[in-house]
Amino acid sequence: MVKIAPSILSADFGRLAEQVIEAEEAGADWIHVDVMDGSFVPNITIGPAVTEAVRSATALPVDVHLMIENPDQHLSAFADAGADYLTVHQETCVHLHRTIDAIRELGVKPGITLNPATPLNTIEDILSYVDLALVMSVNPGFGGQSFISSSIEKINNLKGLIDQKGLKNLEIQVDGGINLHTAGSAVSAGATVLVAGSAIFGHPKGISEAIRLLRKAVAGEPV
Ligand code: DX5
Ligand code: ZN
Repeated sequence: MVKIAPSILSADFGRLAEQVIEAEEAGADWIHVDVMDGSFVPNITIGPAVTEAVRSATALPVDVHLMIENPDQHLSAFADAGADYLTVHQETCVHLHRTIDAIRELGVKPGITLNPATPLNTIEDILSYVDLALVMSVNPGFGGQSFISSSIEKINNLKGLIDQKGLKNLEIQVDGGINLHTAGSAVSAGATVLVAGSAIFGHPKGISEAIRLLRKAVAGEPV
C-alpha cells in the first residue's frame, strides 16, 4: 500500500504534538520533517530540537528531509534526535557516497533527493546504497507550491532505473504539490511514499478527513 507522509511544515507549530498524534491516528505512515537553512533554500525552518519533539509525539517513522548546505556536519544531531530516515540533496554533497555511508553508520536509513532541474543520472550510481529516493516535484523551500508536471516522467524514469537494478525495497518518494489531483498520477508513475503538507495540515475539513480523501484519490475512487 502507498505510504502517506504528512509534512509538518504546514502544521500549526503551537499544537505540533497534537497535530502529529492526529495524523498518526488518521492512518499516516511516516511523519515528514522539513529542515531548511536559509542558504541552500531561501527559507529557515526547524532543527534537531523540533525533530526530537516529533519523535516523542509519535511511534511512526520520522522522515527528515535535509535542505541544508554541509549536511555532514549535522547528521549525528538528527540521528540523536530520533530520525529514522535522513534524506540529503545530491546538490549539497560533493562526496555523496561518503555522506550516505555516514548516515547508515549512525543507524539511520539514508535517502537521496534532487531538485526538479537536476538530472536523474546524477543519483543513478548511489541508488543501490540508499533506502529512499525522493523526487522533488517543486523547488524546495516552501509548502503550498504547485506540482511540476514533468516530475511524473522523472518518477517513471526513476522506477525504470530501480527495476533495472533490481532494488526491490527502495522507496520512491515524491514531495511537493501532492493533493487529490496529483497523488494518483504520482502513484501510477511509481511513487510508493507521498509527502503532503498543505493538502493535509491545511485542509479545511481537518487532518483526518484530508488523509482519508488522499487515500481514496490514490485508490482511484471519486472524492
Ligand atoms: C518543500 C518541502 C515539502 C513541503 C511540501 O520544500 O520539502 O515537504 O512541505 O508541501 P506541500 O505538500 O504543501 O507542497
Ligand atoms: Zn520535504
